[in-house]
Amino acid sequence: MAHIPESFVQEVLSRTDIVDVISSYVSLQKKGGRYFGLCPFHGEKTASFSVSGSQQLYYCFGCHAGGNVVSFIENYENASFVETIEMLADRLNMSVPYEKGSSAQKAKSDRRSIIQEMNREAANFYYAQLLSPAGERAMNYLKDRGLTDETIRKFGLGYSLPGGNSLYNYLKSKGFDDGQLKMSGLVMFSEDRGPYDRFFNRVMFPIQDASKHVIGFGGRVMGNAEPKYLNSPETEAFDKSRNLYGLHLARSSRREGLILCEGYMDVISMHQAGFDNAVATLGTALTGPQSVMISKYGKQLLLCYDSDNAGVKAALRAMPILKRSGVTSRIIHMEPYKDPDEFIKSLGAEAFEERIGDAQNGFMFMLDIHDRDFDLEDPQGYTDCVNSAAHRVAGISDEIERVTYIKAVSERYAIEESIFKKKVDNIGLSGKAISDEAPGEPVLTGMAVKEGIEIPQNILLSLLADYPEHFKEVKDNIKPSEFEGELYQKVADMLYAGLESGRASPALILTRFEGEEEKRKVAQMFGGTNMENSTQEDIRIAIKEAMMKIKAHAAANIPKEESGNALQKAIENQKIKNRLRSKK
Ligand code: CTP
Ligand code: MN
Repeated sequence: MAHIPESFVQEVLSRTDIVDVISSYVSLQKKGGRYFGLCPFHGEKTASFSVSGSQQLYYCFGCHAGGNVVSFIENYENASFVETIEMLADRLNMSVPYEKGSSAQKAKSDRRSIIQEMNREAANFYYAQLLSPAGERAMNYLKDRGLTDETIRKFGLGYSLPGGNSLYNYLKSKGFDDGQLKMSGLVMFSEDRGPYDRFFNRVMFPIQDASKHVIGFGGRVMGNAEPKYLNSPETEAFDKSRNLYGLHLARSSRREGLILCEGYMDVISMHQAGFDNAVATLGTALTGPQSVMISKYGKQLLLCYDSDNAGVKAALRAMPILKRSGVTSRIIHMEPYKDPDEFIKSLGAEAFEERIGDAQNGFMFMLDIHDRDFDLEDPQGYTDCVNSAAHRVAGISDEIERVTYIKAVSERYAIEESIFKKKVDNIGLSGKAISDEAPGEPVLTGMAVKEGIEIPQNILLSLLADYPEHFKEVKDNIKPSEFEGELYQKVADMLYAGLESGRASPALILTRFEGEEEKRKVAQMFGGTNMENSTQEDIRIAIKEAMMKIKAHAAANIPKEESGNALQKAIENQKIKNRLRSKK
């Protein structure tokens, strides 16, 4: 596998401007020192996604996605590190000088594509086992469930052998080492047993991303054992919140929009029956990023969740998330069957097509469930129900849509439209409407996202990076060790060192952290503020206030063993505060 020399990576990064790159994906507007746009990672209507040219970082105040230009492309394009550098180099018309890397270099430079390679090999192995005599029972199982050879091939279904470590041995023979195998989640290592395969005696469902990389697996038992499905753990290649099962096929469907269902088998049955726009989440509830992905394939989604209580609940939870990405839902009803797989198996594709035609408006579906909580025979119960429904109508964010629903819902409850409208308007004015984009969830914007000491710490770090002329004063008052949290202390240490030598680069600091989660947090630290249109004086004050808060917090958190001189410290802190105040 190709390896790209570190010096070349640095060269590409130094010539790349994050604002330029992100502008080609997101429309950005300059506000103060930063650029703002709609976040591509969580779907929103007000711009909380920010890009800083001076820091070469991006950060979203809404969903906290953040990082440098490399993490942006990795996440947006679902690309590996090597692919990302290739894309960036391509923009600059630079050609990539590949070198053959040692396996250690490989592991470092591109863990994600190594895991994908291992998964690809594993999928081939599982597929071969399914077709072999050892896979006879699994093959019969799939045939019993109505799958054709073509479907099995299209989805690359397979079979993992019982017990032992046959996959481990196979992948070893392909040249992967123990460290890499562990990273893939395909092999487990136990003290007494040594290496053993995670999946055994299961029907295997390879999970592919939109670009067809194999990123993980689901494995199903062939009987009633628990757990019914076992999935790959999240790895650097497998993020369950940013992928959809079946999307690599559904994306080229000629049908309009997508059908979202719950299970792997549902997707497979639907595709086999010709509904090749079906996708599913990966055993978890729908997430914001998945909802944004869905929105790229149409503003209407057919929801085809299980007809049991769990499925209904999941649908009600998914709808506001979809709404936030501008997607409205229609509900496909499958009663008396539990899921689309069972429905199609029993009644066939034509009947399913009819159910698509009869799909119910998502808002009306929500009201059907809502009404169950009221005693509609009782006049008071009925009144309460209509009132409660009015709160939902008042929370419809789109004005035209709201007007349409006032009419439809007043008819539903046989209330005169003008009276119902008045009620809805009043609720809207009172601020008690229940939002269709986030019922029960406060909508967090801007700096409201974090409370406590993190805000001043973020502000201080961001302002220091953007306005290094204040470094001397800050360093005289606050030591890196006075920041709360180990990660903050590390970052402060690096930033101080950078400022000391006259070259502070948040983007560079970010590259020193390995984990996705850490990178995100670090980006968040530098996205701590937006001093748009602020004067030098505003900035000085903001820095001072942040310093005071950090000092006060550090003083309040003096460890017990030091409590003897706590008073002394408190006095010192007060002195510093006074000093800061008087300068202000
Ligand atoms: N799932 C999981 N782990 C489990 C059970 C379910 O990850 N122990 C996920 C799988 O992605 C599964 C989906 O949830 O496809 C839906 O689960 P369920 O409705 O129980 O299964 P079905 O898809 O109906 O599976 P089958 O038809 O094979 O019974
Ligand atoms: Mn099922």
